[in-house]
Amino acid sequence: MLVVALDPPVREKGRRKTSLLVEELDKYVSGYKIGLPFLIKHGRRGIRELRKSTEKPIIVDLKLADIGDVMAEVLRHLARLGVDAVIAHAFTGYTGALEDLSKASMATGVGLIIVVSMSHRGSEEYIDRHVDEFLELAARIRAKGVVAPATRPRVIRHVREVLGDTVEIYSPGIGIQGAEPGSALCAGANYEIVGRLITRSGNPGETARAIREMQLERWLKC
Ligand code: XMP
Repeated sequence: MLVVALDPPVREKGRRKTSLLVEELDKYVSGYKIGLPFLIKHGRRGIRELRKSTEKPIIVDLKLADIGDVMAEVLRHLARLGVDAVIAHAFTGYTGALEDLSKASMATGVGLIIVVSMSHRGSEEYIDRHVDEFLELAARIRAKGVVAPATRPRVIRHVREVLGDTVEIYSPGIGIQGAEPGSALCAGANYEIVGRLITRSGNPGETARAIREMQLERWLKC
């Protein structure tokens, strides 16, 4: 239900080492998401350390959007580092892009999570006009999951209506971006992705525990 985005809390002094953070968080979370800030700061060694620190799924959020050969190569590198899934954009299309990525995904066992909408308001300017096409594409490549925003629960409900239980829905946008813990789960998401609310708190373990409790409370009422 709770996936923690581990991108470094850039505004904080005295950042915790990832392995210590994971030790505090591990019993409350379903998995971890790392993105470019984490990769630029910690590199491949950081991924290896994270892999050693937890048996929970690791999702690498590169929001891939390149030609198929390049994306497939990235996926193969990530597979060797033991990650479980990678996030890719859908707008690159099938032929010569997601087709190759999905073949690499099947060959390596690294799952694909496809962005069909984003949590910021600009998503409505372009991306959200194509949600149905992106969902069709996600179904075509048998994506493990899609990303849909907690900030717009109607999009989550729409994804669930269109794709049923064939994919997992991952929802960022909880906390600093405005949505309340549990709200995306009530709309149909499987996982809420939470970053800064946890990583910038003075006591990340306690914050993750409290968020889990809020998720459950809200879930029981929806
Ligand atoms: P917070 O606001 O909780 O952000 O610090 C958590 C993480 O979620 C990512 N993020 C998104 N990823 N689609 C995505 O694929 C989105 O709409 C979206 N909104 C936030 C962000 O990169 C951060 O790591």
